[in-house]
Amino acid sequence: MKVMVIGKGGREHALLWRLNQSETARKLYCAGGNPGISQLAEVISIAPDDFAGLVDFARRERIDLTVVGAEDPLAAGIVDEFDRVGLRIFGPSRAAAQLEASKTFAKAVMREAGVPTAGFEVFDDAEVARRWVRAHAGPMVVKADGLARGKGVVVCEDAAGALAAIGDAMERRRFGAAGARVVIEERLAGEELSFFALCGGESAVALGLVQDHKAAYDGDRGPNTGGMGAYTPVPHFGAALETRVMNEVVRPTLGAMRARGAPFRGVMFVGLMVDGERINVLEYNVRFGDPECEPLMMRFEGDLAAALLACAEGRSQAGLNGLSVRLSPRSAAAVVLASGGYPGEYRKGAAISGLERIDGAEPSDAKVRWALQKTRVKVFHAGTAMRGGRLVSDGGRVLVVTALAEDLRRAVATAYEAAAIIEFEGKQMRRDIARRALERMPP
Ligand code: AMP
Ligand code: GLY
Repeated sequence: MKVMVIGKGGREHALLWRLNQSETARKLYCAGGNPGISQLAEVISIAPDDFAGLVDFARRERIDLTVVGAEDPLAAGIVDEFDRVGLRIFGPSRAAAQLEASKTFAKAVMREAGVPTAGFEVFDDAEVARRWVRAHAGPMVVKADGLARGKGVVVCEDAAGALAAIGDAMERRRFGAAGARVVIEERLAGEELSFFALCGGESAVALGLVQDHKAAYDGDRGPNTGGMGAYTPVPHFGAALETRVMNEVVRPTLGAMRARGAPFRGVMFVGLMVDGERINVLEYNVRFGDPECEPLMMRFEGDLAAALLACAEGRSQAGLNGLSVRLSPRSAAAVVLASGGYPGEYRKGAAISGLERIDGAEPSDAKVRWALQKTRVKVFHAGTAMRGGRLVSDGGRVLVVTALAEDLRRAVATAYEAAAIIEFEGKQMRRDIARRALERMPP
């Protein structure tokens, strides 16, 4: 089949890299793309919000499956547009994408589904919200209802912080219309994890737990970023937790979405807070995480194109199980190389060197069996560009160095070895990816 991916970051590069090894994917396209992606796919420049242009292209080229990387086109209804003309697309409908696009919608679904989550209140009026906060001292979290590029959540120590956050979101409209309504919820303690499942409306198959590192600097200090590194599986939360999340979160959520007439197809990304035996859902996302996708794709075994198509078609549980979607028992770790200053101001256009020493060329025969030794390290492009024949930085997150190995310690060490070989001015990275897991392991 012909498969098109929409997007231009490390997540999309990883999806295309894995699709390239898929038995059933014959030709790959990417709407967006970057220099890494252009080695695997035909890159076309149609914007992710140009639905008419994308539908037109998919029809003309007879694309069999389109895969959407980011949440914005999903929330704006790209899947409905493709569905309407009978084109297959992996991702939730506009109605189902509300799981990520509206925090109040997500909370209502959790309540209906009996999914454990923090106690909460919803406010459309700043004065009413302030009154509530004054009556409920203690740490709380103020969340803009709508999509705010991951910045709409303020974790507050006390009432003063919450009052300021309410003013910022609802009156000063720091997040635009997304903050007209806010959710205020109890602050939870514990360890944060991400869980991913491929969903076909009724059916679901687990891709497992991943731990992201959102703070910019070591020791989880500094400003919040899109994610500075990730690893999977998470050994200190074994398979038992994955089973629990499937049974207590993913399946009930799918049921509640069907009951609402908005069956969920696509990847369900559950943000979890785990505290001993207690699990709570912080949020849903309706797309792969970035950088979580990169190590997940390193572990993914089976035919990715076939699996995503089965979800898009809403295939039954038996149909999904029959696809032999498996995750390698090995561990994968990803280290993000960012531009100096990220997530604040940073410079673009720094020349990147060393990549050729790690990356080698893609195997000339794209369908060669996945040779694990060869793909032990893979560098995905997140924000790069070609300028005058040279590879240069072109974003806050520049490259995602990802390694797969027998165990987590080796995967992390290998990723850092490769990360050290790559140079560009201002290179910034965290040096403690997977620290929480490694600290719990024997040396
Ligand atoms: P969200 O977009 O809802 O996942 O929130 C973004 C971040 O805020 C999460 O990754 C957590 O670090 C933090 N957060 C959100 N909700 C809570 C909560 N109820 N208690 C503690 N931290 C939270
Ligand atoms: N890495 C977090 C996200 O993609 O939302």
